[in-house]
Amino acid sequence: MAANASLYKSHKMASPHEIPNDLLINQCQIQKWNSEEVFVYVLNLTWILARTIFDLGLRYSGDMILAVLVILLIYSTYKAYFSPIVYIRNLTEIGFEHVPYLKGVDGAMHLTLAQKNRQLGYKIPSPYPNGWYAIAESYELKIGTVQTATALGLNFCVYRGEDGVARVVDAYCPHLGANLGIGGEVKGNCIECPFHQWRFDTEGKCIHIPDVENIPKGVSIKTWETMEVDGAVWIWYDAEGRPPMWKSPPHEDSKDYGYRGRNEFIISAHIRMSFLTNTEWNRTEDWHIAEMKIDQSYMMMSCDIFPFNVVVKQIGPAQVRLFFNSKLGPMVVYQSITPIGPMLLKVVHRVYSPSYIALFGAVMVYGEAYQTHVSSPPFVKPDKAVKAFRDWYSQFYSPNSKSMKDALQNPLEW
Ligand code: FES
Repeated sequence: MAANASLYKSHKMASPHEIPNDLLINQCQIQKWNSEEVFVYVLNLTWILARTIFDLGLRYSGDMILAVLVILLIYSTYKAYFSPIVYIRNLTEIGFEHVPYLKGVDGAMHLTLAQKNRQLGYKIPSPYPNGWYAIAESYELKIGTVQTATALGLNFCVYRGEDGVARVVDAYCPHLGANLGIGGEVKGNCIECPFHQWRFDTEGKCIHIPDVENIPKGVSIKTWETMEVDGAVWIWYDAEGRPPMWKSPPHEDSKDYGYRGRNEFIISAHIRMSFLTNTEWNRTEDWHIAEMKIDQSYMMMSCDIFPFNVVVKQIGPAQVRLFFNSKLGPMVVYQSITPIGPMLLKVVHRVYSPSYIALFGAVMVYGEAYQTHVSSPPFVKPDKAVKAFRDWYSQFYSPNSKSMKDALQNPLEW
């Protein structure tokens, strides 16, 4: 009280209840952040932290490296054995990264424009040769589930019935055109439309319409011939409407291998492209299978530290099996190439290996390509494999194979 009294006195105040202005200002200044002080404080704090981390790192560097390696090993082992890797790269990441404004709000529009303006080449063969095409992943299609799929410029409904068989029908309902792949329901082994619950059996025939006793004759939906191998559901496509000319039996040697994951690439290329140009393709006894062998080695100081060989089997236009053999053990990669639309491919690799080399199996095999089509390229000697491959591949075309021009009449917009 005495101190307050003297304070009021020194400011010549009339009343002890009035607070002098300069005192108010001083109090405000004490509470205000001083930016310079904050900067110095943060700088000091950062320096102390950096020094501490540096000192600790110096003292325990060996332990820390070991800890990181152990964590990486545990994570990789977990992924390899219990949680297969899924690695996806999209069109915006392969071949079109140079397109300006791709990441902006109008990115999709710029991508479509870039695709449209792309020079396709001339005398380009059909984008949809005859053969089997993967349109769904087996492990994703559980019993009772329905999916929609796009391939060959068409839309499909894929479902798995109670009997465990994967089936494929046209996506659009013959009643009023609802997409069965979106909201459709599996009833036993039949598929039911989400709009008015028309039900179609395994032959595609309409067998049930709510509140209707006499179902009109001929009401049906197109069903597609399917097979399920290599971790995928495949449909048979033939421009002449012929039944399947072959079916791929499962690869027996790898039936006990574990699934290690898959990678997926959306690329802008023609399906007849060949990734490997300097290796010999050979026809086999089966007209629809071509084969090649690749010997690979990793050299270090003139020492072949990791020799391995790969046998590649191309089965029809869109199915490839790659058998790896190394000192570590065998591994198989199943590749499917699905043309979503003209010059737009979905390439998937599904990796399988014995459990004792699960970590090795988890290493993805992938390839990227973006090219135009040249109908009669000036082949040089190392390119002869490409020519041999193209000659073999031409047998998957038939008189009614859809031309690139026709396919482009109704391109899917991406
Ligand atoms: S649209 Fe499919 S039942 Fe009506």
